[in-house]
Amino acid sequence: MTESVIQLPTLGESVFDTYDRIRSRGPVVPVTLPGDVAAWAAVSHRAVSELLAADGTLFSKNARNCPALHDGTVPADWPMRALTDIDHMLNLDGADHRRLRKTIGQAFTPARVAAMEPRIRQIANELIDQFATETGEVDLISAYTTPLPVRVICDLFGVEQADEPKIRDWVVTITSPVATGEQTAAAMGAMVAHMGALLEAKRRVPGDDLTSALLAANADNDLTDEELVTILWVVITAGHETTVYLLGNAVVALCENPSQLDKAITGDRWRDVVEEALRYRSPLCTAFIRYAREDVTIAGVDLPAGAMVVWYGGIGRDHEEYPDADVFDIDRSAHDQLAFGRGPHFCLGAPLARLESAIALSTLFERFPKLELACPASELSYGPQIITAGPQQVPVRLRH
Ligand code: HEM
Repeated sequence: MTESVIQLPTLGESVFDTYDRIRSRGPVVPVTLPGDVAAWAAVSHRAVSELLAADGTLFSKNARNCPALHDGTVPADWPMRALTDIDHMLNLDGADHRRLRKTIGQAFTPARVAAMEPRIRQIANELIDQFATETGEVDLISAYTTPLPVRVICDLFGVEQADEPKIRDWVVTITSPVATGEQTAAAMGAMVAHMGALLEAKRRVPGDDLTSALLAANADNDLTDEELVTILWVVITAGHETTVYLLGNAVVALCENPSQLDKAITGDRWRDVVEEALRYRSPLCTAFIRYAREDVTIAGVDLPAGAMVVWYGGIGRDHEEYPDADVFDIDRSAHDQLAFGRGPHFCLGAPLARLESAIALSTLFERFPKLELACPASELSYGPQIITAGPQQVPVRLRH
């Protein structure tokens, strides 16, 4: 019997379990996205490699190249349009994409990332100092893995600390699989207005921040203000949403594998922990949509022209690519992995994500080397998720 098309997300099931089911059905599988929109999910390492290799040729990231989004097949109020219908970096191909990426790339340099190290360490320690310790228990998602990346990215762009909760709330709504079209549009509108004001403020009084550096990189006015604002919200969103869950997933993996945690602490192996966590449990669930420009075959599966294709960030668990894929092992060399994508859209923030995650984990476990989960890992709650994936709470006991 053929299993019916799988819905993303599937009610009552964690996104990891849903994808385990999807994977057993083949490398590229029909799914429905929230709002009952028909799409395909690429779920094997080979399928995703082939898909990314065809970026800008057989596949477009530009919604204009998807008939279903314009011929009435997909409703005008589809909530995911807040992400698909805007001309931002993740939604453009070729020269249009390079134009945007070049300007932010000139400002967001490796030196700027490296210079963040002491500040990230300071933020990590400040958050740990604020843990309420009467019970010795804390929820790491709300007390650490969320505020840390939010503060790092806001700090980087010169966003006021008082505005961090608003930024987080907007991003939660924009990336939510259960928000209505009206809710996502309202959150997007508010975030865009806030970024417009930030741009103006930095234009008037430049500072030592990435927004000011972006303006300086755009001195020849190649990009419009609207494009600069779009860059700001995209990078601020992408720059923390995934890291929140990477940290949550990594803490759970380390607590479940104490010998790996010992190895990380004694050998200062936090960079390897981050690489293995990216492979073992990627925080990116469903990557942005690509549109088939013509009939195309991916990993042996035929897709029709116009097909909407997403890819699964959890392909690090593909058994054909990784022996013992379900074992968390920081000695594994997974450096060829696709957790940050590949090709023209390779993650712009990968160096920052790697640096801040290593610092966040090392600081936490250096202060609490015997930290343990306060409930069995099987009881952790995973809400309905689609773009990112990770636990909604990670209650831990803080032990030295
Ligand atoms: C654990 C953390 C992260 C993961 C797993 C991750 C993953 C990814 C992946 C897979 C892509 C490519 C998507 C595609 O091909 O459709 C991507 C793109 C992107 N990421 Fe990340 N990311 C992370 C952190 C960050 C951070 C910290 C920033 C910014 C500071 C960032 C900014 C971006 C941007 C702007 C793009 C779009 C690049 C383009 O289209 O040219 N990401 N990320």
